[in-house]
Amino acid sequence: MSEPVFRTVIEPFRIHSVEPLRMTTAEHRRAAIHAAGYNLFSLHAQDVLIDLLTDSGTGAMSRDQWAAIQHGDESYAGSPSFFIFRDAVRDLFPYQHVIPTHQGRAAEKILFGVVGGPGKVVPNNTHFDTTRANIEFTGADAVDLVIEEGHDPALPHPFKGNMDVAALDALLRGRGADVPLVMITVTNNSGGGQPVSLENMRAVREVCRAHGKKLFMDACRFAENAWFIRQREPGQSGRDVADIVRDMAACCDGMTMSAKKDPMGNIGGWLALDDDDIAQECRNLLILTEGFVTYGGLAGRDLEAIAQGLTEAISHDYLRYRIESTAYLADALGKLGIPCIKPAGGHAVYIDARAMLPHIEPLEFPGQSLAVALYETGGVRSCEIGSVMFGRQHDGSEQPAAMELVRLAIPRRTYTQSHIDYVIEVCEQVLASAADLPGYRIVSEPPALRHFSARFARV
Ligand code: F0G
Repeated sequence: MSEPVFRTVIEPFRIHSVEPLRMTTAEHRRAAIHAAGYNLFSLHAQDVLIDLLTDSGTGAMSRDQWAAIQHGDESYAGSPSFFIFRDAVRDLFPYQHVIPTHQGRAAEKILFGVVGGPGKVVPNNTHFDTTRANIEFTGADAVDLVIEEGHDPALPHPFKGNMDVAALDALLRGRGADVPLVMITVTNNSGGGQPVSLENMRAVREVCRAHGKKLFMDACRFAENAWFIRQREPGQSGRDVADIVRDMAACCDGMTMSAKKDPMGNIGGWLALDDDDIAQECRNLLILTEGFVTYGGLAGRDLEAIAQGLTEAISHDYLRYRIESTAYLADALGKLGIPCIKPAGGHAVYIDARAMLPHIEPLEFPGQSLAVALYETGGVRSCEIGSVMFGRQHDGSEQPAAMELVRLAIPRRTYTQSHIDYVIEVCEQVLASAADLPGYRIVSEPPALRHFSARFARV
């Protein structure tokens, strides 16, 4: 008998421990967001009902991860937990050196502390905000070279995270001497959680090789990227995701990683690479800022949780559910007429706030306006990825970002379908009053990464 096929993709787990949610009223939420200067990062998480601010470190760990935590060994140097972690990383990303860090941006800070500096330029498909900030902090320039299709929210394309290979080649021809390495971010978070194809990674690798440049992968969502490759790339269906991940790794000379994403950790990250000299310099910085080379700012128990999480991240049942459940939210919003980046990303749905709130100028932050409205209406916390995050330029001027997005990031294994159905209803209510939503202006902001702490007022 053939295997029966069902329409419903169920959560491939059952609930083992629960956390209560705190219900709040709209009046309470309006007061809370006003007190927070209309910045969703400044809210108390207790005042949030459904938290879609980020998928970073907010997922549910498995029974087996909690068991692995008990196995953690807290020796300062040479902990067995480090070797379990290192081997789990190397099983998928077989680089010579694996350097643990407390999270992804620490790996970026160390890497660019070694290879960055004034006059340098680092291309990427799209730099994540911390990657860009860590590069710019060294005095180098961060350049985004995603394909043209990646800038058009409504255009369906299977691999909108791909790098523009011709543009990369042109940059390397013109300024090759200033490029210490090339980055590629999988999936392309700032561009809508869109995947990069294996074909594109291989083409990028060839260009890098022709110019004698190293290629590093920002691999936060490597498993989701590999699943998209399996689903969408000719010749890849039916393959084991782990093998696709190994093929992605083989295109690169190293990686930065936030273990708070696909590796299912609540904290952690790493830097991995083949180059002995760069690795040695990175380890020197690591000891200065993170800790000894076998723990790098993490407890032994964290290293164990990540090692176990890596084995769960590449499960086909998990990835099918993960990608389908994100698409479920995107499809429902699409049916309501809410413009979203197409196709849905792996870890998040991105609402096109510029299209949804055309009456608000980009520099009056339509994404911020929408994010505040989602919170006030239903206690749903999302994240602006637009001119608040990227509008301020190096020289202090303001430029509208390429897109004005609001990201609904889905924590891994945390919310059920009824939570998502509630989010859909909240979006529907906000849509009904979209024309009345106000613009915002910034009242105070820090010199870098302003979205975390800026305060806003209604225009
Ligand atoms: N690279 C990408 C693509 C990311 O998405 C993140 C974090 C980082 C690097 C930095 O890692 O947070 O461990 O220091 N992204 C989170 C987000 C914060 O909400 O998208 P980290």
